[in-house]
Amino acid sequence: MTAHHWHVLGAGAMGCLFAARLQDSGCDITLVVRDTRPDPLALVLEDGEDTREMKFPTTTAADRAPISHLLVTTKAYDVVDAVSSLAHRLDRDSQVLLLANGLGFASELSGRYPWLAPYCGTTTEGAYRVSSFRIRHAGHGATRIGRSGEPNPPAWFAPWRALENCLWEQDIDSALWEKLAVNCAINPLTAVHDCRNGELLSRPELAREVDALCNEIARVSEAAEFAPIAAGLRARVEEVIRNTASNHSSMLQDCRAGRTTEIDYITGQLLRVADLHGIAAPRNRSLLEQVKRLGG
Ligand code: PAF
Repeated sequence: MTAHHWHVLGAGAMGCLFAARLQDSGCDITLVVRDTRPDPLALVLEDGEDTREMKFPTTTAADRAPISHLLVTTKAYDVVDAVSSLAHRLDRDSQVLLLANGLGFASELSGRYPWLAPYCGTTTEGAYRVSSFRIRHAGHGATRIGRSGEPNPPAWFAPWRALENCLWEQDIDSALWEKLAVNCAINPLTAVHDCRNGELLSRPELAREVDALCNEIARVSEAAEFAPIAAGLRARVEEVIRNTASNHSSMLQDCRAGRTTEIDYITGQLLRVADLHGIAAPRNRSLLEQVKRLGG
């Protein structure tokens, strides 16, 4: 098995988690950091009862060495600018994998660099930063990776296959849309009501909102030719809410921390598709405006 050299762009909790897992499966890893940081960078990874220190070489965008394999784990709204900052280190043979929430950035990127043809992924792994150099792997989930129209994985996927619960997804478009649909039903509501995911089912007035939102999202999903996702959406949303009942969604965390949210790449993207098909989605539109008013 050839283990490649992966550069990880977006060294937040998720980026560091994947850096650690890829290093474990034999890949060379370099973290792309914004400014000069210790090289190597030492990070502590907590996983269940296990706590260990890991070291990663670092680089900044200003360096010139070519990048063969790039994993992007930035926030959705940073993907295009962050990859652009490394464009001088990429060429037609560079493999780029986008593992960010939401939709829309892959086509923006392809518009700017038609030769890039990025792979995309979606994950339900949970990780958060305990402190600047300490990451906690909080929830074990599944990761699905693919590229539209490519049923078989490329050679670089071999070490990824060794990661826990990481699969090549033959229909990545559906996988990404399903994640988007679920996020549209959960994230903005939790942000606007400042509540844990579980309250979306336990508070009757919010449960009614979830139902109404799912109806709108299902209509858009059907128009976008994701009929099976439309049919199973309400049940899937309920399952995710139950599995993550005590979580604060990523959008609520962003609002509380005064950070930009990913609403434009989640609900905003759903609304762009709704508009294309002439579907009014007033509840989603109103949530987008409310989240924007909260600052994101
Ligand atoms: O964005 C998130 O927080 C997660 O995707 C989800 C599933 C809503 C759980 O909190």
